[in-house]
Amino acid sequence: MFRVVSPREADVSDSCRLVKLLCTCFNDACGLVNYACSDGLRGLFSRYPHYEPHLVFIAEEDGAIASTLHVLNRIIRLNGNAVRVGGVAGVCTDPRFRGRGLATGLLKYAVDALRGGYDALALFTTFGGAAYAIYRRVGFNDFYIREYGVASVMDLPKANYASAAVDEASDSDADALLNLYNKVTTNLDGPLVRTRDYVRDHLINATWLKLTRPGVNAKVVKLMSEGISAYALVTGVDNDGLLNVEELVAENCEPVLSLVNQLVKDTGAKGVRVYAPLAMLRCLGARLFTVQSVYMLMNLEKIEISNVRDRYIFRVDQW
Ligand SMILES: CC(C)(COP(=O)(O)OP(=O)(O)OC[C@H]1O[C@@H](n2cnc3c(N)ncnc32)[C@H](O)[C@@H]1OP(=O)(O)O)[C@@H](O)C(=O)NCCC(=O)NCCS
Repeated sequence: MFRVVSPREADVSDSCRLVKLLCTCFNDACGLVNYACSDGLRGLFSRYPHYEPHLVFIAEEDGAIASTLHVLNRIIRLNGNAVRVGGVAGVCTDPRFRGRGLATGLLKYAVDALRGGYDALALFTTFGGAAYAIYRRVGFNDFYIREYGVASVMDLPKANYASAAVDEASDSDADALLNLYNKVTTNLDGPLVRTRDYVRDHLINATWLKLTRPGVNAKVVKLMSEGISAYALVTGVDNDGLLNVEELVAENCEPVLSLVNQLVKDTGAKGVRVYAPLAMLRCLGARLFTVQSVYMLMNLEKIEISNVRDRYIFRVDQW
């Protein structure tokens, strides 16, 4: 039988082996090994202030960390209400200990421990896989499956106004980006309630994205016309010549087209791959593709989710 030791603040002495274990489960955690093994978790967390170090759950067997998961504090908007969500992430069992009920047991333990602190628990996983089956059995249900759009430059509608300037965003734009984000997301269900600090760290500085994808050239660009009328988080042009846009926010189609047309011109991209709410993908005339990843919710406080409207969770908020 396994022994569950949690919840407790992850100890610095755990950090190296914990992150090494995560690296065996998730490629994108491997970039964190150097931080976790040199300065310990505190060094890692100081680089990423929105990660919650005190919500790491661990199952040990024979003194080894056999299974782990952690929880991130999130607030999402549903039906106009702010809903407290525990974001379950990094569910991982050491390959030597798999298939023995560790992940299921640890998750059930965490759900019980977290009751009372959150309105709901949520997670992202690959639809239909081994982990998906575990989550369904423990009580998580499908909430949302993301689509992204791809548009070829040949088919991209042209923008009508040319007076807008495109520039890289900086920390001082955090309030303006947050205002725009708030306006655009009022009619959506699921988006994170963001703060200015979150926008600065998570979006403008793309801290987590850069930590987990070493070498990625992430930057936020803004479209200026009477203030910021659109912004995009871009991570460069891939080998197919597609410009990758991880987040795109604008009040209506005109600034979307202006910004995207300018970006493809500046980068010489042949097309764009865009993660954005459906309304913005339609502006681009993009062809839609479904990501085989599902956002699942477990309701802890009987929040109303049956009649929610347009569901959307931004990609950078996928912890
Ligand atoms: C998914 C994962 C956490 C499961 O851990 P675990 O401790 O083996 O889980 P459990 O023992 O509680 O397994 C529960 C079920 O999954 C099945 N299962 C576990 N690992 C499996 C695998 N690699 N392939 C196929 N089935 C698997 C078990 O057979 C069991 O099914 P059953 O109860 O119907 O027999 C583990 O495989 C893992 O770390 N995978 C890589 C990371 C990952 O994908 N995490 C999920 C991210 S959302």
